[in-house]
Amino acid sequence: MPMKKRANWGSRMGFILATVGSAVGLGNVWRFPTVVAENGGGAFVLLYLLMVLLIGLPTMVGELTLGRAGNRNVVGVFSQLTTRMHKWWLIGILPILASFAVLSFYTVVAGWSLLYVFSSLAGITADLGTTELEKLFNFLTGNVYFPILGQFVFMALTVSIVIIGVRKGIERYVTFLMPAVVLLMLILFARTLFLEGAWEGIGWFFRPELQQLSFNTALEAVGQVFFSFSLGMGAIIIYGSYLGKDSNIPMNSILISGADVGVALLSGLIVIPSLFAFGISPETGPGLIFVTLPAIFNTFPGSILWTTIFFLLLTFAALTSAVSLLEVIVSYLKEERKWSRSISAIFVGGLIFVVSIFAGLSQGPYEEIALAGMNFFNFLDFTASNILLPLGGLCIVLFIGWVWGTQQASAEITRENRSFKWAAAWSILIRYLVPISIGYILISGLLF
Ligand code: PHE
Repeated sequence: MPMKKRANWGSRMGFILATVGSAVGLGNVWRFPTVVAENGGGAFVLLYLLMVLLIGLPTMVGELTLGRAGNRNVVGVFSQLTTRMHKWWLIGILPILASFAVLSFYTVVAGWSLLYVFSSLAGITADLGTTELEKLFNFLTGNVYFPILGQFVFMALTVSIVIIGVRKGIERYVTFLMPAVVLLMLILFARTLFLEGAWEGIGWFFRPELQQLSFNTALEAVGQVFFSFSLGMGAIIIYGSYLGKDSNIPMNSILISGADVGVALLSGLIVIPSLFAFGISPETGPGLIFVTLPAIFNTFPGSILWTTIFFLLLTFAALTSAVSLLEVIVSYLKEERKWSRSISAIFVGGLIFVVSIFAGLSQGPYEEIALAGMNFFNFLDFTASNILLPLGGLCIVLFIGWVWGTQQASAEITRENRSFKWAAAWSILIRYLVPISIGYILISGLLF
């Protein structure tokens, strides 16, 4: 098959920012502090950091390399790199399912963020204490119409950016939005340090209580790493496929992972101490940041402006991630099924929007309806993050390590005289340590 010409990144910085744009999103700002709070603090943070080094970083290098070498979508990349006799492309089905599931609940949270832009702009969140903020969250998300409206607008934005195309659509925005998110979070962090009782929370965040460690916590930590790094579902493979041949993959992986971990830790260090300062229960669940962050902003002069800008930026950060999620499915339909970009984006976006309505309602009016003991929203989150993504990641690293081969991968990484000092260590990780750890944690976490 002749190689089709695909868009390349405009600049090195553009690529890094767009990939960071995919990685940094609700996973860092919303999901990370929530799982830290639910899993006992320091012990979880420690496990998470361990998983980042052991699994996240090597897999990031692997996915970027696979994407650049295969130069295809998440299904095509596998058949591109093996002889056509094999059925390796079947691996690609997992990521497609995963991105569908993730987007279905991702849009719900992004829709809430959008609702908060307007609520804070209207002055509704100003001057509220944490009890009232909790009530407001329950009201906004328990309502039938508001969340659906938020989800609809968010999905429409995502679909439009995907239609415009990767370079024109993404690169332009992330260049200034990502730094702005970080800046605002740094201001929030600085403020948190001065809240009474906050330091107790910082201690809780860093002090690992080793009796809290369990296979379940490990599974949560692995799921969080995959979710946060956008791994195991082809988003990074696709971004890698748009990467120039002379780029330094290991260095880029370190920068992207470092930025992602940095934002997650920053968010944790804002939210967790403020739980202690305001006396909020760590069990609050998905509403955690929607209660704590406005509460911190309400201690600022001009809180309306601060809160509005923050949720606006959070919505944009979610948008750059959602775009990469939708792109996984759209690039597959476009390249393998010959659908047009616009039709695939509108069709898939519409379908996900419908599923997301049920996910949204399951956080409010239909909370009692349970699937495997969870509401539909939590069920989607659990299945996608803790099962589908690690499973997808497992297949991808097994493919790189044993089918395509780490030798081929290293050759791809060292093209154009690039050096790869840790090639040997990386091969051992990809062939043995990463797959064994994922497999072990997946099985034990689900059984015990
Ligand atoms: N990494 C994104 C976040 O942290 C979510 C995401 C997951 C995006 C998987 C793409 C693929 O919000």
